[in-house]
Amino acid sequence: MRTIIEPFRIKSVEPLRQTTPEERERYLEQAGYNLFLIEAGNILIDLLTDSGTSAMSTEQWAAVMRGDESYAGSESFFRLKRVVDELTGFRHMIPCHQGRAAERILFSVVARPGHIVPSNTHFDTTRANIEFTGARAVDLPIPEAADTQLRMDFKGNMDVAALESLIAAEGADRIPLVMLTITNNSGGGQPVSMANIEAVKSVSARHGIPFYLDACRFAENAWFIREREPGYADWSPKRIARKMFSLADGCTFSAKKDAFANIGGLLCSNDDRVAQQETNLLILTEGFPTYGGLAGRDLEAIAVGLEEVLDPDYLRYRIISTGYLGNHIAEHGVPIVEPPGGHAIYIDAARMLPHIPPHQFPGQALAVELYRHAGIRSVEIGSVMFGAAARHELLRLAIPRRVYTQSHIDYVVEAILEVNAQKERIRGMEIVEEPPFLRHFSARFRRL
Ligand code: F0G
Repeated sequence: MRTIIEPFRIKSVEPLRQTTPEERERYLEQAGYNLFLIEAGNILIDLLTDSGTSAMSTEQWAAVMRGDESYAGSESFFRLKRVVDELTGFRHMIPCHQGRAAERILFSVVARPGHIVPSNTHFDTTRANIEFTGARAVDLPIPEAADTQLRMDFKGNMDVAALESLIAAEGADRIPLVMLTITNNSGGGQPVSMANIEAVKSVSARHGIPFYLDACRFAENAWFIREREPGYADWSPKRIARKMFSLADGCTFSAKKDAFANIGGLLCSNDDRVAQQETNLLILTEGFPTYGGLAGRDLEAIAVGLEEVLDPDYLRYRIISTGYLGNHIAEHGVPIVEPPGGHAIYIDAARMLPHIPPHQFPGQALAVELYRHAGIRSVEIGSVMFGAAARHELLRLAIPRRVYTQSHIDYVVEAILEVNAQKERIRGMEIVEEPPFLRHFSARFRRL
């Protein structure tokens, strides 16, 4: 059979509320044309993020009931620890309330002013947590990643030669760790090959620098390796994931992505001294080490999710259904970051709307129009989010896991194509009010 179906059936449903374009125009005005400020009840299809928005399975909900809420020594912690040990092999694992909490604790322990932390591309919270310690976050994507239209199997890779030069120029003692984000979210949801993980590991190890994974979307990355990298076609996703983790000295992980949990994160390492310092900080701000800012039931949901996410039927459907959205709009002339990523499709808004210059925020203008036209929420990743540092003007359509069916995605395709057919009418935007940092969350705009 050629038809790919959702590998689940639906047991509990959540109604969607239809609104009219006139109502949405009013909500937009009230929200200052910032989609973060629109009530979720007024959104029809929400593609703002794939983080914390997954549908949990019956097994996860059953496990939630088993949650042991003991302050210390919760059984749920040990259940999660067994799953993480088996998957990653790391000596130490501490739970945190989400990925950025793991980042804050890790970099508070290892980084300080004068340090440099390289990555293929840091996610914004990772960068912010590094810079908060006074260290510098450096992105070393392969040069091909700059061309949104180039199709390549592993466009999320790190430029290993650039890493070598950075270490030679700055000195290994100023680099507390090297990181790889898998998949590379800020780089378009593009995967990193096993060969690249091995190469980065080997350079880091040669210089005595610990090597960490930002493993938020490790299972999606494992699937891309299975599909695209010679030698892995008959490996299970779990075996590939175990190999990826075995190459690393530690990881940060947001359980809100590839663990289908609505909250949670993990910080893992093989270094006893670092882990001890991390645990001390954890107790200070997150909680006792056997719950780390989460409820016992959250630990259970993560433990079950980490096993479910490696199901080949799920991963095949996940990657193909994300590609379905990307390929359908691209075939009709909507420029996307090629090839489609694992968790999201990124429209190249600057290329789609050449009449809107970057300082008039083409990504934001497109996000506003897509909501006005069809009630779909997406997010600008461009000059609104990054200011002058923006490398592209993108609109991200992130796909929540196991939430929307193919007909929802067909609706999204139709809406984007209708917007594309009248794209000359879309006008640029101007910021009328903005906070001193992270302005995309609360800035207000007007149409020009
Ligand atoms: N690392 C990556 C690669 C991420 O994509 C995220 C979150 C984090 C770290 C932080 O994890 O949200 O649990 O604190 N990404 C979400 C997104 C917010 O929409 O891409 P968190």
